[in-house]
Amino acid sequence: MCEANSITKFISISYIVFCFVVPLIYLFIYRLVVKKRRRDYHRAAAIAIIIGGILLSVKLVAYLLGDNCFNCYLNNECFKEVDNTTSKEVTKSEKTSTTEKITMTTTTKNTTEKTYKKVTEPAGVKKEVGKTSKGYTIETIDDVYYVDGYLIVNKSYPVPKDYEPIDAYATTNTPEKSCQNCINKLAYSAFNEMKADAAAVGINLWIQSGYRSYQLQNTLYNRYVSADGKAAADTYSARPGFSEHQTGLCFDLNDAGRKFNGTTAAKWVAQNAQKYGFIIRYPEGKTDETGYMWESWHLRYVGSELASKLYNNGDWITLEDYFGLTSKYASDN
Ligand code: DAL
Ligand code: ZN
Repeated sequence: MCEANSITKFISISYIVFCFVVPLIYLFIYRLVVKKRRRDYHRAAAIAIIIGGILLSVKLVAYLLGDNCFNCYLNNECFKEVDNTTSKEVTKSEKTSTTEKITMTTTTKNTTEKTYKKVTEPAGVKKEVGKTSKGYTIETIDDVYYVDGYLIVNKSYPVPKDYEPIDAYATTNTPEKSCQNCINKLAYSAFNEMKADAAAVGINLWIQSGYRSYQLQNTLYNRYVSADGKAAADTYSARPGFSEHQTGLCFDLNDAGRKFNGTTAAKWVAQNAQKYGFIIRYPEGKTDETGYMWESWHLRYVGSELASKLYNNGDWITLEDYFGLTSKYASDN
């Protein structure tokens, strides 16, 4: 496996310089060897551009081929040690092919099965608003829904527009409330432990998107509606006020898109997330329950107790199924 290091970085940068220097050398030689009256500078410039283009396209081909040493040296897209002090991306890394060698059942450092606490409900007036189909009591605290002490957000259970997470951990220097990498402090600490254990088996995990405000979700959702239409957007993006991201209790890993599905990183996460108190919130084949397509990259922090129940040997049970909840918008609009 090729790993990112100072040599790959040097070579990838040098190659860019090379792409520009070679055409210049060509022009220089052209000027030296071709007699003045026979020189055609337009033609020479066109040839120099073509040479530069061919060299740059080699770089592009390496990128499109994805994980291999070729890409590692030309684009510095390869494995790299993980910086555990931040959840920001260090490098693009875990694509299936080069990591297939990793055994999914690899023993991680987390073998002692540490217990991860559930996030406690905030102080506030509790109101009982109903029962789920499985007999659990649905309560609200400041208009936020809780079942068995777990905050619930889905297509049936929104959060107020002005809801902001408590105990959000700022992972960047930006103010917490606008920090897209922010997640709840307990979740963040669990994430860092998971990230370290994943790194020990060559898997790089990073948070692409954590807390998202109502306004940001609104922007994203409307962008998806414009691109794909409302019906399609509703299968993969929550309407503003209905996104779990507004709670700061969840996050999207790495590429946060379909190409993450089936990767070694995704498989490792699906087999190990529960050890750190996370659940795969939108598992494969559970669209009828969650209301969303499979998102192998979206993890929700619930703590060890519930996560271990929902894990179900990797055939993840949804929050909706476990508690007996629906996830359907009240109206199509
Ligand atoms: N992609 C998830 C469903 C969200 O937008 O919250
Ligand atoms: Zn998500």
